[in-house]
Amino acid sequence: MKILIIGGGGREHAICWKIKSYSKDYEIFAIPGNGGIAQIGQCVKKDSSNFNEILEISEENKIDLIIVGPENPLSEGIVDFFKSKGYKIFGPTKKAALFESSKCFAKEFMKKYNIPTADFQITDSFEESVKIIEKRKLPYVIKFDGLAAGKGVRVIENYQEGKNYLEEIFIKKIFKGETKVVIEDCLVGKELSYLIFTDTNTYIPMVPAKDYKRVFDDDKGPNTGGMGCYSPPNYFNEELEQEIKKKIVEPTLKGFERENIDYRGVLYFGLMITNQGPYVLEYNVRFGDPETQVILPRMESDLVEVCESVIEGSLNKINIKWKEEKSLCVILASKGYPGEYEKGKEIKNLDKVEDVVLFHAGTKLENGKILTDGGRVLGVCGIDKDIEKLRGKVYKAVQTIDFEGKHYRKDIGLL
Ligand code: AMP
Ligand code: GLY
Repeated sequence: MKILIIGGGGREHAICWKIKSYSKDYEIFAIPGNGGIAQIGQCVKKDSSNFNEILEISEENKIDLIIVGPENPLSEGIVDFFKSKGYKIFGPTKKAALFESSKCFAKEFMKKYNIPTADFQITDSFEESVKIIEKRKLPYVIKFDGLAAGKGVRVIENYQEGKNYLEEIFIKKIFKGETKVVIEDCLVGKELSYLIFTDTNTYIPMVPAKDYKRVFDDDKGPNTGGMGCYSPPNYFNEELEQEIKKKIVEPTLKGFERENIDYRGVLYFGLMITNQGPYVLEYNVRFGDPETQVILPRMESDLVEVCESVIEGSLNKINIKWKEEKSLCVILASKGYPGEYEKGKEIKNLDKVEDVVLFHAGTKLENGKILTDGGRVLGVCGIDKDIEKLRGKVYKAVQTIDFEGKHYRKDIGLL
């Protein structure tokens, strides 16, 4: 069977690795892929938003199944396009992808179906947004409506900061697309990533994960795409899971049914676990990055079978088995990330690490050397029954691998 993965980050490397380690008979293709995926499959350096080019490659290589990693091609309708050409493709349609591509749409949906989320106001006018913040209690959160690669959300601590951000959005137009914002209460608690597979009728939860978004230890510094992850978080338990299912997952799926939304794929609930219980911060319509790098190593079942069951609407016929072991992933980043950073530094000692899996994010192979090629460079991941042993072996590998300007958090798995 030939499987094409769309995307080229650590998440996509983890998907390819999972498929290939389940069965050598699965043949992997990736667009555009990366230096790690190139070691287990064939990478084609093409733009993942050019669907006609992807179609050509799929036809040439007789692809049987397509799995989409990132949100952009989903919100641009890649699933609708390939379905209309008769392909099996894993991911939600353009309409269903609105749950991530429009924060206003997602918030209105949550309000309609009584899904716990921060109290909010929506506006598409600069003047009105300024009036709103004049009356809002600090701190609050301003979110740009559309996709902004994780950069559209700001927690506002004082009036001037809020006004400046609104000016950037409405007047300087720093983001592409329609200018609309959500202004909402700031929630306090612990964040949790809870992902499910669903074909709308049934759902199967994945194991939960905690993502570390801030760049420095103790959650200091600016937000990043994620500096590490572990699963399961130490504050997760059966009671919390039941509450998440009852108050959040099931009402969401009921809402899909009422609104005639045929949602097939991964649905990712970004949650804040507050003293009043779990609240939804956001929906994502895809696997998380780096959540996938800790979730898939704990999966025993065949991911390909799961994806096919979701596409066919027969998820109720399968079970997914998970390992009891814990998993942990530390991201090695380039100096300066999430701001400006240099690329092209040689990564040394990759062959000297033991008992861990390396998921490449921003790397490239040049003249036989692996070089840094992005802000997030590598995910160093491991699994073990004992969290201290696990941290020990992952951090040993983290220290062994070397490149100029290497930066990482030392507290993954502790908070
Ligand atoms: P989002 O893209 O909506 O998940 O927001 C990105 C990050 O901003 C989240 O992971 C949180 O860390 C933070 N955030 C978003 N909304 C809120 C909120 N209402 N209260 C506190 N933090 C928030
Ligand atoms: N880890 C956050 C995300 O994938 O959106």
